[in-house]
Amino acid sequence: MKIHRDTQLKQYTTFGVSATADTLVEYSTVEELRAYFAEHPASEGYYMIGGGSNILFSGDYHGTLLHPTSSDIEIVGSDDESFLVRAEAGVVWDDFVLYCIEKGMYGLENLSAIPGTVGASAVQNIGAYGAEAKDFIEKVEVYDPVEDKLFSMSREECRFGYRNSVFKSRTGLIVVAVVYRLSRRFVPNLGYANLKERVSSQGDIDAMSVRETVVKVRAEKLPDPKETGSGGSFFKNPIVDKSVADKLSERYPEMPRYDVGDGVKIPAGWLIDKAGWKGFRQGDAGVYPRQALVLVNYGSATGGEVLELSKRIVADVKEKFGVELSPEIIIL
Ligand code: EPU
Repeated sequence: MKIHRDTQLKQYTTFGVSATADTLVEYSTVEELRAYFAEHPASEGYYMIGGGSNILFSGDYHGTLLHPTSSDIEIVGSDDESFLVRAEAGVVWDDFVLYCIEKGMYGLENLSAIPGTVGASAVQNIGAYGAEAKDFIEKVEVYDPVEDKLFSMSREECRFGYRNSVFKSRTGLIVVAVVYRLSRRFVPNLGYANLKERVSSQGDIDAMSVRETVVKVRAEKLPDPKETGSGGSFFKNPIVDKSVADKLSERYPEMPRYDVGDGVKIPAGWLIDKAGWKGFRQGDAGVYPRQALVLVNYGSATGGEVLELSKRIVADVKEKFGVELSPEIIIL
């Protein structure tokens, strides 16, 4: 276990904004986690940070951040159709996806190249190209530091939703590991937009070719966090009443829309783009020129500047379309 005081967080988040944390604790085992809480009761407060790819620090953080560096992946079960594979919270998500494809365990291909860790994959129910983590999660192993208890939660107990789970409200629970159920048989999931044409044009379709296509499509639309600071989609795609969507469709027949339950999901990227923000830049904070849903830090933007820009966008979209955007990013 390593305890850092007054640490610069720039390298701990993909946004790369400058901010310090009073305390940052790196731990690699549950024993270390327990040892930490034996000395520092949970009531003193803490917040989990994985790959830092979905967090914006709007200023210095006056508290304790816990950061797992656990990195084990283990096959813990199998039957004729599937494997159960357990990955610790600190495993880099895309390393896990690649490992599974290479071992002939399929399902996660469409989720290739998403920044972040395995722990966050469950908290956030990450999703892309027609797949979501919850489609494959068997159970999540958690630690409750208040009770000093380790236990497993089933998929149902995790209450997964669109970029959501029980862990977003019960922030005290710490994800220790996630057990995924993956298939022995590769079944391509190419329903999303033009993924099918893109994959087919590469020749034979296998899990690796799907992965490679997803990696390419993402690179075309989304900034590489190693080059440009960002947290991926800054906003959620809003779900509005059908009547609201119908009125907008009358005004903008070209507006993309997707029915979900009794509401309609409208791409936030389309709204922001239509409102004229795509490519906007003020100082080092901007709206990514190839995907309006993504706010970027071109170098030395502060978290406060990015947050300010996001608020201007929310207000403008509200005024122009009557739709309220909410952040997908966690702002601390
Ligand atoms: N659009 C525009 N202008 C833009 C951006 C998008 O008109 O600047 C339109 C597109 O033409 C398309 C629609 O909006 O018709 C949807 O865009 P896209 O397919 O790029 O997907 P998205 O809804 O913007 C979501 C996820 C992404 C995920 C992609 C692919 C959310 C908040 N975002 O983006 O997830 O990679 O689908 O499945 O649900 C993330 O969560 O960080 C993330 C990147």
